[in-house]
Amino acid sequence: MTLLVTGGAGFIGSNFIFHLRRFHPEYRIICLDKLTYAGHLSTLEAVLHDPQFRFIKGDICDAETVQAVFAQEHPEIVVHFAAQSHVDRSIADPDETLRTNIFGTQTLLNACRAFGIGRFHQISTDEVYGDVPLDSTDPEFSESAPLRPSSPYSSSKAGADLLVLAYHRTYGLPVTISRSSNNYGPYQYPEKLIPCMIRNCLQSSPLPVYGSGMHRRDWLHVADHCHALDLVLHSGKDGEIYNIAAHQELCNLDVVRLICRELGKPESCITSVPDRKGHDLRYAIDTSKIRDELGWSPQIPAIDGIRRTVRWYLEHRSWWEAFPTES
Ligand SMILES: NC(=O)c1ccc[n+]([C@@H]2O[C@H](COP(=O)([O-])OP(=O)(O)OC[C@H]3O[C@@H](n4cnc5c(N)ncnc54)[C@H](O)[C@@H]3O)[C@@H](O)[C@H]2O)c1
Repeated sequence: MTLLVTGGAGFIGSNFIFHLRRFHPEYRIICLDKLTYAGHLSTLEAVLHDPQFRFIKGDICDAETVQAVFAQEHPEIVVHFAAQSHVDRSIADPDETLRTNIFGTQTLLNACRAFGIGRFHQISTDEVYGDVPLDSTDPEFSESAPLRPSSPYSSSKAGADLLVLAYHRTYGLPVTISRSSNNYGPYQYPEKLIPCMIRNCLQSSPLPVYGSGMHRRDWLHVADHCHALDLVLHSGKDGEIYNIAAHQELCNLDVVRLICRELGKPESCITSVPDRKGHDLRYAIDTSKIRDELGWSPQIPAIDGIRRTVRWYLEHRSWWEAFPTES
């Protein structure tokens, strides 16, 4: 079995490659990644010399490159992580976000059509459903809820999801989609909340929190996400969407306070900065489908997982110290 993993030098993609190596050592893995600011070969050091692994530097928007990868490797499964994944960057530069997330996805879908595929799996986000008020008691969004994205990032992911479903309906392409909540864990680029705060604590820099800090996120450890993806790939049904979340909500301020406590820093290091434009308050997704149909359940409690993540960043300073600090 040959799998093509796009964006495998980034956070979730690399963790998924390590998951595959551990649980499916017989699979051949091809990683296609452009190595943007968020992708680093150092992340993949543990597998780079594995004969069952091949790294290809390339852009998913470049049809020639993508077709050449398919022609050489004939992947049976594509797991599509590659994206411009940061909301703030999507607000600053929507063009690049739309190009990568929509046009890049279409380029891959075209190659899947041309060469044939056993499964195209689209990695998506709970952000496509839009946010809910902090005190909402309405039912959570199931997979059939309307899409109501609010940022250029979430709109581009919603657009890509719709294209994936259109290629399934129109051309019969075997596809699945998963929409997960906020991930955290090893190898996350320090522009995202948890690694950014850990890095700033360790460098004795201020800890900037948007607005009131009351925005809530449902934290999912990346290892739990990888197990869910494994189940969807092996037991999920073509044309289906699966929501993935651990139902462990914390507001941003509580996450930062927890990190301060773990690293012995005073809470006075926390500073409020002007809120992100259009900042989503809270997401709420119903995960009964993946739990009931595929038997998935998360294993890592958020407080425990965040503590483990703090220790990981302490023990892997050389990995994140190589990146510019303004990120
Ligand atoms: N991080 C989260 O909390 C989260 C939650 C839900 C969904 N997702 C989705 O999961 C996927 C992975 O997210 P992540 O946090 O690992 O992202 P990331 O930013 O850490 O990694 C993205 C990877 O994609 C690569 N890439 C970007 N543009 C490319 C291009 N044009 N061609 C080839 N490679 C390209 C980058 O080099 C990088 O290695 C994304 O699709 C994202 O939308 C992320």
